[in-house]
Amino acid sequence: MAKPHVYVTRQLFKSALDIIKNSCTVEVFNGDDNPVPRKLLLEKVRDADGLLCLLTEKIDKELMNQGNKLKIISNYAVGFNNIDVPEATSRGIWVTNTPGILTETTADCAWALMMASARRIVEGDRNIRVNGWVHAWGPKMFIGSDVHGKTLGIVGMGRIGLAMMKRAQGFGMKVIYYDPRRLSEIENDLVRYGTLSDLLSDSDFVSVHTPLDEKTHHLIGKAEFAKMKRTAYLVNTSRGPVVDESALYEALRDKVIAGAALDVFEKEPLDPASPLIKLDNIVLTPHIASASIETRTAMAEMAATNIVSVLTGKEPPNPVNLEVKKNLRK
Ligand code: GLV
Ligand code: GLV
Repeated sequence: MAKPHVYVTRQLFKSALDIIKNSCTVEVFNGDDNPVPRKLLLEKVRDADGLLCLLTEKIDKELMNQGNKLKIISNYAVGFNNIDVPEATSRGIWVTNTPGILTETTADCAWALMMASARRIVEGDRNIRVNGWVHAWGPKMFIGSDVHGKTLGIVGMGRIGLAMMKRAQGFGMKVIYYDPRRLSEIENDLVRYGTLSDLLSDSDFVSVHTPLDEKTHHLIGKAEFAKMKRTAYLVNTSRGPVVDESALYEALRDKVIAGAALDVFEKEPLDPASPLIKLDNIVLTPHIASASIETRTAMAEMAATNIVSVLTGKEPPNPVNLEVKKNLRK
């Protein structure tokens, strides 16, 4: 019997490719780390039993119309807002993601962004590089905000939110969290539940850790910035559209809040003409929160294992749409 065929949209770590090659034939898009062009992907998916894709690929009805053999769409990410999951389910196609393994790594990055914006680390670095180090030392030079002892607002208490909470404990911070699900068991003198409004008005740092869906689109916008302290900072490592970027720009420009740090954007890559780039009180990183060698390798291996499981007749370890079991494509 011919081996199942897998199309992979980006160069993968060898250990992950080897997992696929053990039981499948595989073609990898070789685009110098650029996303696969849509037209090519629509062609390649026709022969594929499995697709290993990234959040840069839109996996929609048009694509599934071409992929008549597809049995699994394995996303190399924990977030899966790039995939039309109900459409996949209705066609009997598994959708999988890479949960859990990137939790701590993403929280490390959110923490770094929070500290970098509060302590103006990137501005300081830029100043030395661009202007030379003009004054030896000054009481108000690059003066910022403390992090330790402050209040951290966590919007979305999933795995990554909980990892932020753990870090806050080490910094002697209070935590207010908001989530559709209340987790009474984590609450204590330092950790309390709040409405979003409550969280925004009482936090010194607001860090966003929700998935992107209809309910969270532009969850943080003009009205929300108005509720925040003028001394507060916003950090977003979730998905760009959870924050209304033009409202954020205005809030930073008009000093409605003190600063922000973004790893994710409404449109990626960020337009070089974005006015955000001109602001000093924002730290910008190019969607790298899970980018540690350990985690990106583990994510690739998990994505590969999900594909191979389905194509060798097993249930994938990390399904997003378990309900597909009722009508699996043969
Ligand atoms: C990256 O953003 C991911 O969802 O894994
Ligand atoms: C993602 O891993 C989350 O649930 O926070």
